[in-house]
Amino acid sequence: MRILDVAHEMGHEEVVVLHDQASGLRAVVAIHDTTLGPAAGGTRMRLYPTMDDAVLDALRLSRAMTYKAALAEMPTGGGKAVILGDPARDKTRQRLVAYAKAVERMGGRFHTGPDMGIDARDAAVMARHTKHVSHANPQSGVDTADLTAVGVLEAIRHTALFLGTELRDLRVALQGVGQVGYRLAKRLHAAGAKLTVCDREEARAGRVADECGAEVVGHENIYDADCDVFSPNAAGAVLNSETIPRLRAKAVVGAANEQLSTPEDGDRLHERGIVWAPDYVANAGGLLSLLHERGEVDEDGIHERVRAIGPRVREILESAADDDLPPHVIADRIAHERLRAAREARRARPPA
Ligand code: PHE
Repeated sequence: MRILDVAHEMGHEEVVVLHDQASGLRAVVAIHDTTLGPAAGGTRMRLYPTMDDAVLDALRLSRAMTYKAALAEMPTGGGKAVILGDPARDKTRQRLVAYAKAVERMGGRFHTGPDMGIDARDAAVMARHTKHVSHANPQSGVDTADLTAVGVLEAIRHTALFLGTELRDLRVALQGVGQVGYRLAKRLHAAGAKLTVCDREEARAGRVADECGAEVVGHENIYDADCDVFSPNAAGAVLNSETIPRLRAKAVVGAANEQLSTPEDGDRLHERGIVWAPDYVANAGGLLSLLHERGEVDEDGIHERVRAIGPRVREILESAADDDLPPHVIADRIAHERLRAAREARRARPPA
């Protein structure tokens, strides 16, 4: 299928391809659905084998943001951007500026912030050229990566309670200890959990070994790790027909977006008796942090909103168990229902 037919199938409102001759910027902005508000989603930077892979990633990730906002009761729609290139080699100031100017020209239809490969310092560079970027203030009391980690920690805590156990009795295998994974590792360690970690960058895994006593394994071996919880915190599509049979965990809970390679992989986990906390429910902390940045809640308020992710995950796991359905089916239903109700309310409103 041609890539824009995929966008049509998935229901995207708009897809923008950016090319800037002077800086060499190549990027894609995908706006999935703005029923609940203007699109919000981070900007990711990574190497993609082809342009189609980049567009497909933006399409999938922006749809996940629509669902994430619906479950977290955020007044935002689903959007996401990807910048093509290796963040370690290709991330020039000129490109970030060209990208930020393009976001500004979109006039607020898309609001962005950090994501994989783009950190708060990059957001600060962008913020000089667009109002529509968040988490650019290093002085701010809240850090989007840390709030994401807090939400995932609470999701793990409540998944453990659902399974009849506690954080301090768990061994957690973390795939990726970057911006979010590192902060999650620190918090899990503080809560008494044992850790097994891997990262494509050896130094990052080594740091968690030093600071948290984690066992380090090669990134190909993390699926075979002996653990209670497998926690993907890096790339998407890591739960698939090849990896699921290898998992030894009782549950999968992590910050990575789009963890299932296909929806059938959610069924596959369910058949294996492995509990999966739907990714877009568990990892909503970063999105929720926009409420603090917009001055709608204070520091305590934002932590309260993020901690609510834990009980929400547990409720979904409980209703999934009651109906003997995979948890992703329950979460998707809630998202569809909220979007349907919002569309109906919008239609009922008299035209301005
Ligand atoms: N990148 C975060 C995510 O994937 C969300 C985010 C949105 C962060 C907007 C900052 C600004 O959920």
